[in-house]
Amino acid sequence: MNQLKQAAATAILEKINALTDSADLSASDIMGMFEYPPDPKMGDLAFPCFKLAKTLRQAPPKIAAALADGLAAPGISRVDVAGGYLNMFTDKAGMAESTVNAILAKKERFGASDEGVGKTVVLDYSSPNVAKPFHIGHLGTTVIGHSLKRLHAFCGYDCVGINHLGDWGTQFGKMIVAYKRWGDRAEVEARECDALVDLYVKFHEEAEKDPSLNDEARAVFTAMEHGEPEYMELWKWIIDISLREYEKTYRQLGITFDSYAGESFYTDKMPAVVDELKASNIMVIDDGASIVDLSEYNMPPCLILKRDGSTLYPARDIAAALYRKKHYSFDKCIYVTSSGQSLHFAQWFKVLEIMGYTWAKDQLIHVPYGTVSIDGGKLSTRSGNVVLLRDLFNQAIEKVAAIMEEKNPNLEGKEAIAESVGVSAIIFYYLSSGRIRDINFLMEDALSFEGNTGPYAQYTYARACSITAKAEGAGMCDLHAPVSLSGCDLTEEENALVKTLALFPDKVAQALHEYEPSVITRYILDVCADFNRFYHDVQILSCEDEALRTFRVKLTLAVKYVLGTAFDLICIGKNEKI
Ligand code: ARG
Repeated sequence: MNQLKQAAATAILEKINALTDSADLSASDIMGMFEYPPDPKMGDLAFPCFKLAKTLRQAPPKIAAALADGLAAPGISRVDVAGGYLNMFTDKAGMAESTVNAILAKKERFGASDEGVGKTVVLDYSSPNVAKPFHIGHLGTTVIGHSLKRLHAFCGYDCVGINHLGDWGTQFGKMIVAYKRWGDRAEVEARECDALVDLYVKFHEEAEKDPSLNDEARAVFTAMEHGEPEYMELWKWIIDISLREYEKTYRQLGITFDSYAGESFYTDKMPAVVDELKASNIMVIDDGASIVDLSEYNMPPCLILKRDGSTLYPARDIAAALYRKKHYSFDKCIYVTSSGQSLHFAQWFKVLEIMGYTWAKDQLIHVPYGTVSIDGGKLSTRSGNVVLLRDLFNQAIEKVAAIMEEKNPNLEGKEAIAESVGVSAIIFYYLSSGRIRDINFLMEDALSFEGNTGPYAQYTYARACSITAKAEGAGMCDLHAPVSLSGCDLTEEENALVKTLALFPDKVAQALHEYEPSVITRYILDVCADFNRFYHDVQILSCEDEALRTFRVKLTLAVKYVLGTAFDLICIGKNEKI
């Protein structure tokens, strides 16, 4: 679509400049003004003339008529005027040729851009609080964060993915007291976070009866802050145990991080930050605690230090942002958390700005998302009332394996495929709605092979793979040679599919700029719907006309590339067979 937009923009600009010498518009300004008509019968590309009314001192319908008069651009076969709009129709065969050829030439890179070349983006996501199991609440930050990383990398950015572990704080004092009193090394090694959670729960039960345990825990944490070796060793071990468990989930999701520098990493960087805040006179003492007053910005105060001088969550985030700016010289630092933390981010972003770090205003970006519940809260869990991600994944994998056993019992490597399809189904379902909406997860809906689900999308991808593999196996044609469509008349299904494929670069840009992976998920469903309609309505491999058959196979290969890339962008598995 881009090439076409460029050609149309150049032609329109020429017309505008012929009408006035004071337009002061560039071709890219014009390109930004195009819209897609809601109904293909109205045209493939629309140009609204309303913004030009002032410059050209005419009513929009008049401008549209003047611009349409004799307008010609490569790829545009007809121009209609409808009110203040120019509705343009593309030359369908030309559009099909150029779209399919562009995809076959660029392969997995079709849709990519170079807007981020030379720029660095830091992404802070997943970031669980250590010693607690990975639960459904972490799904959002983990998959949205990783998808945003892939989108940025695809558009040329250098990306640094940071798992900002919650690995420091008084809870570790409690954990160590509990372990030393009631813990068993072998049990913790075996049951990992489950055992740690039990110890934590036990601590709170016992502390109800004997509040001196809380003093003991506080004393242990203070000793940790001074580096007491025995406690530090236990603390490191607890972190290792937790990470061992988290890694299993990350492996299933196909996710890796560039850094695991969590909150503890900033301990020795805190005094300098606190000194700077003191020196800048923006920090005041309030009831013994140190805060930054933000009433001028209609926000509650940002809490920096507790009464006992220990640092709080916002202070550690300020230190981390300063460190990252220095260390990575980022152009953007993105934080993906639930919308429950929106105020926290708005507050400390503002503190940095008041401190004089002007980049905080537009380079620090909080990407919030809504809450998740499962089957209306009905899913039972082993540890209390949180739904563990591994339980959710296991259920999905089991159900998918059962469906696959029925559909395709002889499939080679079916365990690994069921795992990939099951986990992908969860990700796909989660990323299907806009991130800010609260989601009620319905397992049946997520796993169905029919309907707008991950398994359906994966099934469609496997269908495209099987067709191209058959064509290749039969030595049918050089699949990557450019198509030529001279004289072929395309069907409505083919035209619709081509048009959807051509939209991919636009969708990538939209998902990137709106920090919204769901744009890609919904786009995948559009491609699948158009491809399946095409598959059911025309003959591909058995088409008698050779030119048409070749085109259809190549169109199928183009679908395989675009779907594969889109799957990568939202972190779902690509399986050539299901
Ligand atoms: N550990 C925090 C939590 O589980 C999320 C951390 C998000 N990142 C940050 N830099 N504050 O709520």
